[in-house]
Amino acid sequence: MQITVETQPLDQIETDALIVPVFEGRKDTRFGAGDLFDSGEVSGKPLELTLLHHVPGVAAVRVLLTGAGKTDKFDPNELRKLVGAALRFLKGKSVKKIALALEGDLARAEYAGAAAEGALLGDYEPDLYKTDGDKKTVESFTLVAAGDAAGVAAAVEAGARRGGIIGEAQNFARALVNEPANRLTPAKMAEAARKMAAERGLTCEVLEREDMEKLGMGALLGVAIGSAEPPKLIVISYTPAKAGSSAHLGLVGKGVTFDTGGISLKPSDGMEKMKYDMAGGAAMIGAMQALAQLKPAIAVTAFVPCVENMPGSRAQRPGDIVSAMSGKTIEVLNTDAEGRLILADALTYARKQGCTHLVDAATLTGAIVVALGHLNVGLFSSDDGLRDRVLSAGKSEGERMWAMPLDEDYKESLKSAFADLGNIGGRPGGAITAAMFLKEFAENTPWVHLDIAGTAWLDESKPFLAKGPTGLPVRTLVRLAMEWKG
Ligand code: BES
Ligand code: MN
Ligand code: ZN
Repeated sequence: MQITVETQPLDQIETDALIVPVFEGRKDTRFGAGDLFDSGEVSGKPLELTLLHHVPGVAAVRVLLTGAGKTDKFDPNELRKLVGAALRFLKGKSVKKIALALEGDLARAEYAGAAAEGALLGDYEPDLYKTDGDKKTVESFTLVAAGDAAGVAAAVEAGARRGGIIGEAQNFARALVNEPANRLTPAKMAEAARKMAAERGLTCEVLEREDMEKLGMGALLGVAIGSAEPPKLIVISYTPAKAGSSAHLGLVGKGVTFDTGGISLKPSDGMEKMKYDMAGGAAMIGAMQALAQLKPAIAVTAFVPCVENMPGSRAQRPGDIVSAMSGKTIEVLNTDAEGRLILADALTYARKQGCTHLVDAATLTGAIVVALGHLNVGLFSSDDGLRDRVLSAGKSEGERMWAMPLDEDYKESLKSAFADLGNIGGRPGGAITAAMFLKEFAENTPWVHLDIAGTAWLDESKPFLAKGPTGLPVRTLVRLAMEWKG
């Protein structure tokens, strides 16, 4: 799908369908919509769709009045959903060329960016491996910058470019997550990262098993040993041409390409979903793709430990004690609590590589789904400043996050009789004790942990998004790096 910008008057836009946002309580009298408002057929409620054909005096073949809700509640996040819903509806009707009216307050960079993202995100379908039926494709999405004020077209152009970059990066992450575990092994994930880095001018290094052995990454290696697939630790770096900050942001993402639970085997019901256990890692790789193009003023490095968690004759057992790179020993009380084990060594490595701030994302616990459902990412932090930056970036991007507690007292439950730490803390506060475990390895480096187990995967389609991988929290990470100060 090609994204373009036009500045002609709305009625002259030649397209298969023109999306026109209409607001609740603000009667639009164009396109013959006045009568529809009067009769109540059109109300402007969020995501309400009314398709009009051959409107007199309008060059577009169709006009799609799309409910935008109340004006005081409207923002770029609402527009992103509106565009996604409208595009998915039109695509279902085999419409090829789509345009969006961006008028008045909407003819601005932030809105243009969100619109481009909404179109790309709405367009994505997790149907790569479906060979039957006809796959519908949208050819072009045109932003119509309808405003005379100086700079409107330039602002919309800039916004569309940025939104295009971010939407594509998020879809790249979604595509990686959607890959089944037989096709996306740790080695294939490393290959995908390498390819992206080469195309975008980033440096990429992949640590092999032998490298990890030399570094003493016993926690990561213990998880990997049960699988015939060798582990990979992907390291992708972006260095600004002229650094505007001495900070170095480390993005650490869980890359378990499949989580069977290991010897502490998971029930078979729903286990197929565990291919998404690398969603945190995919988000980091996606964010790096966007940052390579948007060029923030801060150095950013992604660290993605990739393993497959399998049972087998070589697999680690409950009760095994492993030595992490930091020097701490861990009693593996449950082999299904593998994410924190691989992240422990990745966090230590990121610190040793000079990262001054760390953000990790991981499909870490079922407990976060119990706590927050599917609407909010669970956010844990050892540093109030970094926590507030991530929370605010998430809010701006419509990726909802909720700060969870992380009192030192929770550490109590991670006690082991035989090692420095156990890898589980029991059922109460399971997402918190998992975060507490990670904190032991982030040590005194400012750190935020995002538990995305409930938000990285959509079980049912939304009007604006297909079911499957969501690509969270790519946008938040990109904004965090782009707005970095200090
Ligand atoms: N990948 C899972 C967490 C998960 C569960 C993600 C459900 C998405 C949906 C993780 O590795 C795991 O198995 N966690 C265990 C931890 C427990 C053994 C302490 C869990 O949450 O049950
Ligand atoms: Mn697990
Ligand atoms: Zn897992």
